[in-house]
Amino acid sequence: MNWQSHPQAPTADTHVCSLDAIPDGGCIEVSFGDADALRLVVLRDGGEAWAYVNVCPHFSLPLNSRPGEFLVTDDRHLMCAYHCALFRFHDGLCVDGPAKDRSLEAVPVTIVDGVVRIAGDR
Ligand code: FES
Repeated sequence: MNWQSHPQAPTADTHVCSLDAIPDGGCIEVSFGDADALRLVVLRDGGEAWAYVNVCPHFSLPLNSRPGEFLVTDDRHLMCAYHCALFRFHDGLCVDGPAKDRSLEAVPVTIVDGVVRIAGDR
């Protein structure tokens, strides 16, 4: 199931968060819905942001083991908290670890007036 099939999937132009809400070089989690929420991890590098479904392609676990706590490296990689798979911010590709060469599921976003929004034509 891709993110667009999720019952809580946001439509195009949905407000995700303000860019300033994401620490530069870090990330936050944003959820859509309550029970069975669609959980996204939204990462930032300067004026750019990317969003991925918060599910590791290794064992389909969340990338964080504690709410709101993610492991990031100075060179803009996100590390899965469970078995240390390392994903690039800019394309979600795993470059090291047990999910090597697999990718996080990207959710296209755009930044308009300092606000991260869902992109596309949903
Ligand atoms: S669940 Fe993420 S590396 Fe194993």
